[in-house]
Amino acid sequence: MPVASTPLQEIREFFNQAAADEEHFPTTIDPRIYHVKLVLQHMGDVAGKRVADLGCGKGRFARLIQERYPSAQVYALDLAEAMLVHVPEGIHRAAATLTALPLATASCDGAYATESLEHAVDIETAVAELCRIVKPGGKIVIIDKNAEAWGRLKTPEWERWFGRKEMEKLLRRHCREVSSQPISYWEDVAPDGLFLAWLAVK
Ligand SMILES: C[S@@+](CC[C@H](N)C(=O)[O-])C[C@H]1O[C@@H](n2cnc3c(N)ncnc32)[C@H](O)[C@@H]1O
Repeated sequence: MPVASTPLQEIREFFNQAAADEEHFPTTIDPRIYHVKLVLQHMGDVAGKRVADLGCGKGRFARLIQERYPSAQVYALDLAEAMLVHVPEGIHRAAATLTALPLATASCDGAYATESLEHAVDIETAVAELCRIVKPGGKIVIIDKNAEAWGRLKTPEWERWFGRKEMEKLLRRHCREVSSQPISYWEDVAPDGLFLAWLAVK
């Protein structure tokens, strides 16, 4: 079946079932992991600000942001309701697709998507939506897997990994500053080429 025709319902069902797999879809994340540090670093001080976690899963990143900045308004959005039930109280939760976000244009000071865009199928629309909800000057982080490492892990048929330049180009349509870098879980371990991070300022 061509990837473009994979129904959203099939992807939702996959992740609703995956929510029971705490080993591969954990509720929490070690704050020392570089992925977390990078998101926090790029978002900056979000006290009193509005931040969106797109394709939030169980909200492991959103949870840390809310703990660090209790006055932040954190929005956690995901396709799979079974993931969202794990998102802590105090965080705004909503079932939504990355390609049609239920947030107003320029309503967020920052937004990030960690290992979720790779499932969005219509990537151009998802990146446009991510950028739409962020204010001019607001911060954007995408962490996903590197197209050059494709094949290293088992993937569902709709999953896509991205080239550095490919995602930079999509972000540049909407953002004034865009950069990317290979990352690993630990700051003192050289990246093995699996993960890339894109940082942008709208
Ligand atoms: C690998 S998990 C990552 C979750 C979370 N970002 C994290 O790092 O823990 C991918 C998540 O993306 C969500 N997802 C997949 N396709 C989506 C879509 N079209 N819209 C919104 N969420 C989606 C899944 O339900 C799943 O929770």
